[in-house]
Amino acid sequence: MSEQLTKAREYEENAGKQVPKEERQLFHVTPTVGWMNDPNGFSRYQGEYHLFYQYHPYDTKWGPMHWGHVKTNDFIRWERLPIALAPDTEADKTGCFSGSALETEDGQMLLAYTGVTTVEEDGQAVDYQQQCIAIGDGINFEKISCNPILDRNAIPKENHKQDFRDPKIWAHKDCYYMAVANRSADTSGEILLYQCKKENIHDWSYVGVLDKCNNEYGKMWECPDYFALDGYHVLLVSPQEMKASQTEFHCGYNAIAFLGGGDNQGNFCRRTAQTLDYGMDYYAPQTVQTDDGRRILIAWMQNWETANYNNEEHHIYGSMTVPRELTVENARILQKPVREITNYYGKETRFEKQIVNGNIEVGMQGRVFDMTICLSNYKDCNRFRINLAASRNMECYSQIRYDFKNHEVTIDRSHCGCRRDMVHVRTFPVEAQDVVKLRILMDKNSIELFVNDGKASATMLIDTPISMDAITFEADGNITMEAVHYDLEEKLCENK
Ligand code: FRU
Repeated sequence: MSEQLTKAREYEENAGKQVPKEERQLFHVTPTVGWMNDPNGFSRYQGEYHLFYQYHPYDTKWGPMHWGHVKTNDFIRWERLPIALAPDTEADKTGCFSGSALETEDGQMLLAYTGVTTVEEDGQAVDYQQQCIAIGDGINFEKISCNPILDRNAIPKENHKQDFRDPKIWAHKDCYYMAVANRSADTSGEILLYQCKKENIHDWSYVGVLDKCNNEYGKMWECPDYFALDGYHVLLVSPQEMKASQTEFHCGYNAIAFLGGGDNQGNFCRRTAQTLDYGMDYYAPQTVQTDDGRRILIAWMQNWETANYNNEEHHIYGSMTVPRELTVENARILQKPVREITNYYGKETRFEKQIVNGNIEVGMQGRVFDMTICLSNYKDCNRFRINLAASRNMECYSQIRYDFKNHEVTIDRSHCGCRRDMVHVRTFPVEAQDVVKLRILMDKNSIELFVNDGKASATMLIDTPISMDAITFEADGNITMEAVHYDLEEKLCENK
């Protein structure tokens, strides 16, 4: 084991113990210590699900990237494993950037990642990104001796030579395929496709372009994922520098799903584009397929635009979203929290169906829960509000609003206690339904909203002291409401 990896593992083990329990969310993946960004290598290996993450253990800010590591059997409880990769070879000495993983036919785990190296050119230090492979037993990994397997010479001539990262690897028949994010000559994103024979992972060849941006969906595309789902092929990308477009895409960093026709050899024909989450804290999603055929997505529950806020006050910074099951309906992806969350349902508080109006308190409270509100007979109601993590005097609260005239949802954290002026409000349209369903998952400082059985989702982090845990409702006219709230804290804390 290299000096860098030994040092990082030792540091992680010791410093991890110093992280106060209160700082951690209960069912979202957090770094053992320090900083976390993208999910990496979300994969099934010997009957369990592994997740790696972009990791800087030594600080709560981004720095030389390592791969942190956890695994799970149910996507809710995760076991911590030692750091998998540290920047310790010529090919990745400046960082081990994002990538993916798979189980090989001979039972090994293969990690495909971006090694960043720095070379001197005309007296200046220049970073190059190149694709590397490491193979191991699910805990310890060895970087193959011929890394990088794809360097800047493997990029088509006219394309950008520096942005070349985030390999997504998959197996098909006797080959491996790898989709890698790059930039076209027009400076916007392009996903390149490479291939090798399974028995020769040293020898990759360029196949062609899986899809390209043509300056339509932002600039650089990061973190591609590509898979079959419900009769479609899906390409996920995380664009940088998008211009807002209609109500579907906001400006800045986005996470987009393209649906289309395709095959497992990377022939893809895009037909539709949608946002994956309308909130502020969601980026770089990645998926895995389960044994029972589900496609599960996990994303970084943050965004470069909003990260780096009060990092100094914490021992850990960053977390993942709740894993979400994906399905397709009417050519759009739906996201629902992984069904295993129901195994952690504790105390149930129910509000039976009845007509309400005005301010409503129904004895619900808490900061770690799964709650569903159903609203119907709303013709006399313009607006319904849900206040979460509220103080009793309503000085602090975060809000979810439903506008029945326009069928628009708003998430709003401007009064959550945050001292920074950043994006605090997002509004998005949903399809009108007779019964509007709002499902909210909270885990201390995160709110994940799923509208109408996952037809839209919106994720945001809040900055509210944990003691503020009131939940209240407000209707500006008669409406029929029904609600059920399951506490998650008690069971998640059992034997922890
Ligand atoms: C996305 C990203 C990736 C890169 C990684 C570096 O958030 O910028 O493109 O591999 O983060 O940490």
